[in-house]
Amino acid sequence: MANGQILAGFLAPHPPHLVYGENPPQNEPRSRGGWEQLRWAYERARRSLEELKPDVLLVHSPHWTTQQGHHFLGVRKLNGKSVDPIFPNLFRYEFALDVDVELAEACCAEAAAQGLTTKMMRNPNFRVDYGTITTLHMIRPQWDIPVVGLSANNSPYYLTTEEGLEEMDLLGKATARAIARTGRRAVLLASNTLCHYHFSEEPAIPEDMSQEHPQNYEGYLWDMRMIDLLRRGRTSEAFKLLPQFIQEAFAEVKSGAFTWMFAAMGYPELPGELHGYGTVIGTGNAVMEWNLVKAGFARAA
Ligand SMILES: [Fe+2]
Repeated sequence: MANGQILAGFLAPHPPHLVYGENPPQNEPRSRGGWEQLRWAYERARRSLEELKPDVLLVHSPHWTTQQGHHFLGVRKLNGKSVDPIFPNLFRYEFALDVDVELAEACCAEAAAQGLTTKMMRNPNFRVDYGTITTLHMIRPQWDIPVVGLSANNSPYYLTTEEGLEEMDLLGKATARAIARTGRRAVLLASNTLCHYHFSEEPAIPEDMSQEHPQNYEGYLWDMRMIDLLRRGRTSEAFKLLPQFIQEAFAEVKSGAFTWMFAAMGYPELPGELHGYGTVIGTGNAVMEWNLVKAGFARAA
């Protein structure tokens, strides 16, 4: 097989509150709902994903942090319990997922060929982070599509933001080459929140939506500015502003998933479809889709 392709990329944020609000059987805590605007945004994204019929979902998560290099899930079947260390009251999730190890190894090799430090994660008892699990659950709760998980190397935090994101750009380009080489029909998931200013206290009822709103007005304005550019397909302008956005809105895109995804797609000047926006403990979250099949850049199933 060869000539694989990227079918779409999704901005697919991972607040565990969204899983908590859904009450799936895998998650232990129970809720009375909450964060519906974002959960219904994910429902729309799920319908698009269903039509795309990908072979594999690739997810880059800020909460699988690796100090040295970029790591890739490399065990065919992983299962266990994933707990959010900040919100263990909301997220204690029994996961079971299938990994596309062949594609993961190809991504790892291509990234190494770009000069990046890389490593395959071979621990069979590895506890997959809540960011990866939440994004995957929200976009495809059936768990019937194999995945490739990529860690977030800390380079944007140790180096300058720009230098760190250059690594994510290389990682994205390497990912695209690996997808092409292995013949996969792939969907990319950037597991990132936008403005990341948050409240430091939780309401007595976490899902009490009368308490939910943007924590920071300037951060909210930044989110709207970036979403507006992305909805109009002004990708290069959005990327020019990215370091300033990260700095002023404490944006989680600093950790690299957003840059990785756009680099893999070739930074298309393509209007993104906003499925929905909402805050979670005050942080800004958008579910957005760049559908390369609809745009004519990739072949339909
Ligand atoms: Fe996060």
